[in-house]
Amino acid sequence: MRSKRINIEQVFDASYERVMRQELAGRAFIPAFYDRFIDSSPLVREKFRDTDMGRQIAMLEKSLHYVAYLFSSPDIYSYVEEIALLHSARGKDIPPQLYDLWLETLIDTVREFDPEFGIDVELGWRLSLARGIAYMKFMYDK
Ligand code: HEM
Repeated sequence: MRSKRINIEQVFDASYERVMRQELAGRAFIPAFYDRFIDSSPLVREKFRDTDMGRQIAMLEKSLHYVAYLFSSPDIYSYVEEIALLHSARGKDIPPQLYDLWLETLIDTVREFDPEFGIDVELGWRLSLARGIAYMKFMYDK
């Protein structure tokens, strides 16, 4: 069934609030996402081999919102630019195709954590993050 016209930002923000509040079997949303993501590919596991996951969890919680609102302020833009450069070939060398896996894993985790998950919520997340992901991929070889 096609989604009716939705307010992408409102749907994303509301779902973001719900998943961040939710705990399932004692697990919070971002740690659950990282468990899934690290298990999704040997390359992802390898990239996070030496990472302090406690710090990483806090960083992603903050950056998800910034990535969604990438071009809404110069401060957000320069923050996301820094993250993109850190992930680029000159930094952590994250190949662009891993962002697709990252997004699919995130959506699967939202499906698990948001009791109101449905076609609008899924589209809200995908559209909200699409620009930021395109930007991160674009910056790979910059
Ligand atoms: C839009 C998608 C993504 C966002 C918003 C994001 C965000 C972040 C943030 C905020 C940091 C911490 C930066 C810091 O320490 O200052 C980070 C580090 C990192 N990210 Fe991502 N990331 C994304 C996609 C990916 C993907 C697809 C991978 C693939 C494996 C990845 C692997 C890493 C690694 C290896 C680090 C460094 C961890 C360390 O310090 O040991 N990220 N990311």
